[in-house]
Amino acid sequence: MIPGDGIGKEVIPAAVRVLKSAAAAGGRQAELTEFDWGADRYLRDGTTLPPDAVEMFHRDFDAILLGAMGDPRVPSNVHAADILLGLRFKLDLYVNARPCVLFDKRFTPLKDRTEKDINFMVFRENTEGLYVGMGGNFKKGTADEIAVQEDLNTRKGVERIIRYAFEYAKARKLKRVCMSDKSNALTFGHDLWQRVFKQVRLEFPEIESSHQYIDNLLMQMVRDPSQFDVIVTSNLFGDIASDLGGQIAGGLGLSPSANIHPGQVSLFEPVHGSAPTIAGKNIANPMGAVLTVAMMFEYLGWKREANAIETAVREALREGKTPAELGGALGTREVGDWLANAVAKTAVK
Ligand code: NAD
Ligand code: IPM
Ligand code: MN
Repeated sequence: MIPGDGIGKEVIPAAVRVLKSAAAAGGRQAELTEFDWGADRYLRDGTTLPPDAVEMFHRDFDAILLGAMGDPRVPSNVHAADILLGLRFKLDLYVNARPCVLFDKRFTPLKDRTEKDINFMVFRENTEGLYVGMGGNFKKGTADEIAVQEDLNTRKGVERIIRYAFEYAKARKLKRVCMSDKSNALTFGHDLWQRVFKQVRLEFPEIESSHQYIDNLLMQMVRDPSQFDVIVTSNLFGDIASDLGGQIAGGLGLSPSANIHPGQVSLFEPVHGSAPTIAGKNIANPMGAVLTVAMMFEYLGWKREANAIETAVREALREGKTPAELGGALGTREVGDWLANAVAKTAVK
């Protein structure tokens, strides 16, 4: 567990109560270790991601549950880049899976849309693109300053995330995979996406594949989200698409995500950030963090426990046991307690 900053420190304890309740209901043992990495620690002693962390995770852990990283006191949030992006890159967590599933039509801001219209997965490439931190400044701070930020795309990186998206669709008998890029402007890197997509889709003739430029894709997600089953895109575009997707599916506070390297220790975190303006007030929605635990359990093969958690969240939404974000009166802790109780009552079968 790495609660991190801001509301991360509130949603993770709530999610952990649900985690423990689900594990107990399923007769499972979950051994938890907490790491205090985040802004406070960084400002105190300069620690970000300790040098032995990656080896330790590979050796001693099955999964990492992270809250959020980001604090206005830290210039450019350098600690967040080191810890969060560091873990994604160094553990080679190339799949960022961000489901956008509307549980109850009352929670979408889209007019006349229902549960059947909003049910898709965003697969975000998670180890390259504009996030790799290659580039630099020249004549920094002067009137002639130049800033270069490289967009790194490798055949291996593009191919493995696109193939993962198709395999996911195939395994779940989903009909459609839509790849999104900006190859009309990014004529080198995203041309590679085009070529790899055309090649990989030949292996999946039963799946309908399509392409939309990212500007159109975001517009289409609002206009008609029912056209999507699986979206696959680059690191930055996936970041943007998953905030929009999360909001149309009920709000950022409800959105879970998984950073996966299949078969290896992987990292699970809600899509939202540290939300500093609402931090410390017990009002953040912990449901995204709770559903993130369900994604983690599913990854670990604890399917019944994962289902019990999702069922409890659906029940809370139905019964109005919700925080302010969803129009309810419960606090972060109270939602966590309610869900932990609900999970304990669902005898996991
Ligand atoms: P944010 O996701 O923290 O907040 C965006 C908006 O959504 C805010 O209005 C916030 O109040 C609201 N919100 C987010 N989560 C909520 C929840 N659980 N319940 C209710 N409302 C919620 O994004 P931001 O404001 O752009 O970023 C704040 C900080 O978090 C920045 O430092 C950013 O870099 C960082 N960040 C970290 C992560 C991460 O660690 N995975 C993700 C996104 C942003
Ligand atoms: C996310 C966040 C991060 C990202 C930030 C904090 C670097 O927005 O996980 O969606 O852009 O990946
Ligand atoms: Mn984001």
